Amino acid sequence: MDANPSSVPAIEVTGLVKRYGDRAALDGLDLCVEQGAFFGLLGPNGAGKTTTVSILATLALPTEGRVRVLGADPARERAAVRRCLGVVFQEPSLDRELTAREHLDLQARFYRLSDRRRRVGEALERVSLTEDADRPVSGFSGGMKRRLEIARGVLHRPQVLFLDEPTLGLDVASRAAVWTHLRSLHAGGETTIFLTTHSMEEAESLCGRVAIVDRGRRVVEGTPEALVAELGGDVVVIAFESETTPDGAMAALEAVEGVRDVRRNGSGGVRITVREGSRRLAALLEAVRPWGVSDVELHRPDLEHVFLHHTGHPFEPERLGDPS
Ligand SMILES: Nc1ncnc2c1ncn2[C@@H]1O[C@H](COP(=O)(O)OP(=O)(O)O)[C@@H](O)[C@H]1O
Ligand SMILES: [Mg+2]
Repeated sequence: MDANPSSVPAIEVTGLVKRYGDRAALDGLDLCVEQGAFFGLLGPNGAGKTTTVSILATLALPTEGRVRVLGADPARERAAVRRCLGVVFQEPSLDRELTAREHLDLQARFYRLSDRRRRVGEALERVSLTEDADRPVSGFSGGMKRRLEIARGVLHRPQVLFLDEPTLGLDVASRAAVWTHLRSLHAGGETTIFLTTHSMEEAESLCGRVAIVDRGRRVVEGTPEALVAELGGDVVVIAFESETTPDGAMAALEAVEGVRDVRRNGSGGVRITVREGSRRLAALLEAVRPWGVSDVELHRPDLEHVFLHHTGHPFEPERLGDPS
């Protein structure tokens, strides 16, 4: 597996199903990731992201479907697949008693790397942990631990790096530091990165290509820019004085020129995709005046709107107060 022609996709997934009892964590997932990509698997909690990473990284078996990592089957060629990938798990996996350098040294021994001292030193430098290298991890911040896990994941220079929600639970500054390190790692050009996240912002900011997943299936895939551009307009969000949007208001909005799509947004209001939103705003408000508007916002669309557009339900139901 050392000489993978660059035409072989880094990851190929076709019709992947994973059932736990009668419940499907993955329900016919399709993905294709080219070598060298910075790919994002974006989806809400429970979408099947961790399950996907577990199967690709040889840690779980599919129920059905075809899976390839650099052309090899993780279920049947486990050792070969493991050699060419690195994994940073969603759950922290460091030993509190060990120092950063000890963690990396163990990993270097595990992969029988030559020139261990130098490799470990460079890896510490790359994630800005040189000064803290000989402190036990128990004193590290969440961001430092994550950076150490990333350094450990790439120490053996894997061709594919899996990162399962790498910034979950980090504060804004630590998250920014992790992003910086991931960008420079990818810029090095040796590593395909497959990152899962439920942060729209993270996917938009890091990933060249994104697959949005929901309930074990791919909803849509493309560059963040193209996915947003496909919506074909601006987004206007209107809230009404009554708790929910009246049907009459929905119909009135659909009739306004330039309107492409009108949906309930999960928080009682309505979300309208409209060409040239700023020009149409007055017409939209005029159309729904009889129903009493309490609030209005005009946005450039983002991935959150892409998700709502393709699934018909909001990305984070809890946050938007939708019980579904
Ligand atoms: N070992 C398991 N046993 C039973 N159900 C599981 C198991 N692992 C995951 N699931 C279920 O599969 C679905 C997808 O989970 P997961 O892959 O962890 O999603 P995500 O990482 O996107 O949040 C969830 O409904 C979860 O409860
Ligand atoms: Mg997960």
